[in-house]
Amino acid sequence: MSLVFRHCVFLLTFALLATPAVRSEPLSEEQLYDIACQACHSLASAPDHRVGPPLRNLLNRKAASVEGYRYSEALLASEWVWTLATLTAWLSDPDTAIPNNAMNYVNPLTAEETQRLAAWLLQPQ
Ligand code: HEC
Repeated sequence: MSLVFRHCVFLLTFALLATPAVRSEPLSEEQLYDIACQACHSLASAPDHRVGPPLRNLLNRKAASVEGYRYSEALLASEWVWTLATLTAWLSDPDTAIPNNAMNYVNPLTAEETQRLAAWLLQPQ
């Protein structure tokens, strides 16, 4: 096998592995987070505010309670606490969960991915 040919085979294999459409493995929770959340949220502690508030230590955290972040009236008034049930409902369809909230988000994930991501985010850190 020539060196050039071998190089091409390597590149092709790499391209196939890197293409989500042909992956057989499910995406990891970290990858789901990168795809769906990290443009707007950090996983650091406050005060790393982006478009949305930081999401560290989310388990049993009262909604809209990160100091220094300007939440919508709707989220402030919600009296929600973040658990697997509330977070899954919020991510599946934020506008139905808490109407008039400010998270401009349409869930691109499957129900199974959403559930996995929610459980991962609620792990104690
Ligand atoms: C387009 C930007 C954007 C994306 C993408 C986004 N969010 Fe948000 N998120 C926000 C904003 C803005 C708020 C504040 C909402 C409010 O005040 O009503 C928020 C609020 C939240 C809250 C409430 C936090 C608190 O302190 O009570 C959680 C939890 C949350 N987002 C999780 C996620 C997760 C998980 C993802 C990915 C699956 C995600 N968000 C994707 C913008 C975004």
